[in-house]
Amino acid sequence: MGSRMGFLYFPHLILFSWALSAHLLLAIGQRSTYIVHLDKSFMPTVFADHHHWHSSTIDSIKAAVPSSVDRFHSAPKLVYSYDNVFHGFSAVLSIDELAALKKSPGFISAYNDRTVEPQTTHTSDFLKLAPSSGLWKASGLGQDVIIGVLDGGIWPESASFRDDGMPEIPKRWKGICKPGTQFNTSMCNRKLIGANYFNKGILANDPTINISMNSARDTDGHGTHCASIAAGNFARGVSHFGYAAGTARGVAPRARIAVYKFSFDEGELTSDLIAAMDQAVADGVDVISISFGYGLIPLYEDAISIASFGAMMKGVLVSAAAGNDGRGANVLNGSPWILCVASGHTDRRFAGTLTLGNGLKIRGWSLFPARAFVKDSPLIYNKTLAACDSDELLSQLSDPERTILICDYNADEEVGFGFSSQISQVNQARLKAGIFISEDPRVFQSSSFPYPGVVVDKKKGNQIINYVKSSVAPTATITFHETYVDKERPAPVLAGNSAQGPSKSYLGIAKPDIMAPGVLILAAFPPNLVSESIQNIQLTSDYELKSGTSMATPHAAGIAAMLKAVHPEWSPSAIRSAMMTTANPLDNTKKPIRRDNNVVATPLEIGAGHVDPNRALDPGLVYDATPQDYINLICSMNFTEEQFKTFARSSANYHDCSNPSADLNYPSFIALYPFNPERNYTWLEQKFRRTLTNVGEAGATYKLKIETPKNSKVSVSPQKLVFKGKNDKQSYSLTIRYVGDNDQSTNFGSITWVEENGNHSVRSPIVTSLIVQVWE
Ligand SMILES: *[C@@H]1O[C@H](CO)[C@@H](O)[C@H](O)[C@H]1NC(C)=O
Ligand SMILES: *[C@@H]1O[C@H](CO)[C@@H](O)[C@H](O)[C@H]1NC(C)=O
Ligand SMILES: *[C@@H]1O[C@H](CO)[C@@H](O)[C@H](O)[C@H]1NC(C)=O
Ligand SMILES: *[C@@H]1O[C@H](CO)[C@@H](O)[C@H](O)[C@H]1NC(C)=O
Ligand SMILES: *[C@@H]1O[C@H](CO)[C@@H](O)[C@H](O)[C@H]1NC(C)=O
Ligand SMILES: *[C@@H]1O[C@H](CO)[C@@H](O)[C@H](O)[C@H]1NC(C)=O
Repeated sequence: MGSRMGFLYFPHLILFSWALSAHLLLAIGQRSTYIVHLDKSFMPTVFADHHHWHSSTIDSIKAAVPSSVDRFHSAPKLVYSYDNVFHGFSAVLSIDELAALKKSPGFISAYNDRTVEPQTTHTSDFLKLAPSSGLWKASGLGQDVIIGVLDGGIWPESASFRDDGMPEIPKRWKGICKPGTQFNTSMCNRKLIGANYFNKGILANDPTINISMNSARDTDGHGTHCASIAAGNFARGVSHFGYAAGTARGVAPRARIAVYKFSFDEGELTSDLIAAMDQAVADGVDVISISFGYGLIPLYEDAISIASFGAMMKGVLVSAAAGNDGRGANVLNGSPWILCVASGHTDRRFAGTLTLGNGLKIRGWSLFPARAFVKDSPLIYNKTLAACDSDELLSQLSDPERTILICDYNADEEVGFGFSSQISQVNQARLKAGIFISEDPRVFQSSSFPYPGVVVDKKKGNQIINYVKSSVAPTATITFHETYVDKERPAPVLAGNSAQGPSKSYLGIAKPDIMAPGVLILAAFPPNLVSESIQNIQLTSDYELKSGTSMATPHAAGIAAMLKAVHPEWSPSAIRSAMMTTANPLDNTKKPIRRDNNVVATPLEIGAGHVDPNRALDPGLVYDATPQDYINLICSMNFTEEQFKTFARSSANYHDCSNPSADLNYPSFIALYPFNPERNYTWLEQKFRRTLTNVGEAGATYKLKIETPKNSKVSVSPQKLVFKGKNDKQSYSLTIRYVGDNDQSTNFGSITWVEENGNHSVRSPIVTSLIVQVWE
């Protein structure tokens, strides 16, 4: 996303000029929808409520600007009034009308409505399963918390949304179950306590559109999947076509779900998204999960960032997806007030077993979605055919319907999709089955497996080829439907498509924050959608494996909800701190977590590490931050007054930015340095100040443990913190001095406060990184 331009980033240049990209978005001439921020303190007392003020403002613009009739709109029109995550409205306006509006009292800022991208790879598709079972314990945790899922709606009939075992709906809940197409109020229950939908923005953009599913019912599966990951009830005997069979359950199986649908087949727009978040906060949700994001736009035009700021100020944590564009891609949702979530593989694998004619059994990756049996069939390895890249060649096989063909490792798969093109060739040639030699990590995050076969690594591939070469009449049998815990590979592993920080929209804080399971996650799915086609047979399932940061985000939201249940007094910042400082940067072999290409992942890919819910319940200490701290942060962002008010709602604080500070009390540290041809970095020093709050039951003493990033010196003072009792606060300062060398790479380390005579350790990642980024 974004326009083609090159930027050289410097650490002091926190925000740079966005004028060009914003300009490209301006519609010329005809009306379009704008999101308008107003200062409510300007609302004249004659108005009974803000909605009247908004409609009267529009009416006065109608009077002031002679209407130029265009194809769709005869007059300016109010779309939504907002009052919770910020104050203002969305409206359909022409450029002239917008100019008139800008002169109205209380006007702060306005920007164009725009499209939001879902964070699941919806192509061929990455669908999956993988609940790391140790993380999810059947417990009462989460029972009184409400998770708002902002997405494409829900399939309310799914077993995951039954309310068995759920007590009464919390009295404080103010949301509704709004009827609509194929959706009535009896579809909500004590689990699915709210269902609402927002599409006035889509209609304002094009009134001729017919909303095909004008209700909270899900038509693409993304919302249902995400909601059931966050808080699905126990659903027994489910599977993805026989794989991952068992009991599905959400991360917080007793938490309540409220869905706010803003994503429709007809589109997803900012104005609807803000309306959804505004309503969620008003209704009383505790945590919001949103698996969507914007590409390259400035924070003050990023509706998720703006609305999340408002939600955070009201005590609601927003968990949002880091994005699926992989290494080197700009991480999405990188605002300091959002919990930004990366996606990882778990230790669960799906397989078929190959039994060779000589009795040797070899397990290979498979998600072939049927209990098909390939028995004692001739096995062929022919060097000429082994690339499996031509149906002409394959058609030269003498007896294709009986043949299992070995498709060799394809060097091209470094750039292309070796396995997926090979399997489609084998499909077209109507062979009995294929054995695919591949080590391409992308294979293992996709659930698409449309033909009988298994994928094996090069070592096993050679074993099979040697058997074929040494045998007069080689044969093989293949069985499917195996799900197992893989002890040969480390876990977790970062998903190859999880996006990398720092966020280009705000460089001052390392993002993403945390990593959670997001690859091949089994969760609920609408049973009327096709998930796989085999030889023109379309398969559907009410549970499916899916992959993406979209799937990781509701995991983090569910964990945050459980923390809120146990610690209702914790702020969004405290909850995020508890999750980050207890996260695990190591995999189950006690080595640093790697990306799926086997390279060690940095905190700009995994944040503080893999989330550990049981440890997060009892973090010992937290880095808290108050709403005022966030105001001080935006005071430091060099915003214009309008941009500032977009977040802070009124100018009052702008003129009292007496304490601007980019040094937010955050549980991680980042120091960026510019490209310097002379490699002279002696001047680069960054200072941080942090305050820890003891959330343990009693007084405690913590000692410093430090892991210094390569090419830097880190000093911390004091090196010992003594907390007298619960809620006692202690501060320290940390200085990173970049000493420089020739490699100019991203380096990382950490600082950990380790409890004396206790079990708590409170870890924060430290990153130093070169900032030279060229937009694609
Ligand atoms: C803030 O913006 C002003 C005006 O655009 C610019 O001159 C100044 O260098 C900026 N300061 C920082 C810290 O980016
Ligand atoms: C809602 O729809 C279901 C299924 O179509 C139906 O059984 C039920 O009676 C409806 N409830 C109401 C209140 O209309
Ligand atoms: C809109 O779509 C619905 C459902 O497909 C259909 O019944 C209705 O006739 C359509 N309306 C228009 C104006 O096309
Ligand atoms: C391999 O396939 C090619 C092309 O069909 C054929 O000409 C050749 O005889 C085959 N080799 C063996 C050993 O079967
Ligand atoms: C490095 O930069 C510092 C501060 O700007 C300067 O004093 C010093 O002479 C420079 N050293 C070299 C080798 O360029
Ligand atoms: C630390 O953990 C161990 C094992 O879980 C436990 O036996 C011990 O009591 C704990 N110590 C403290 C001070 O909590």
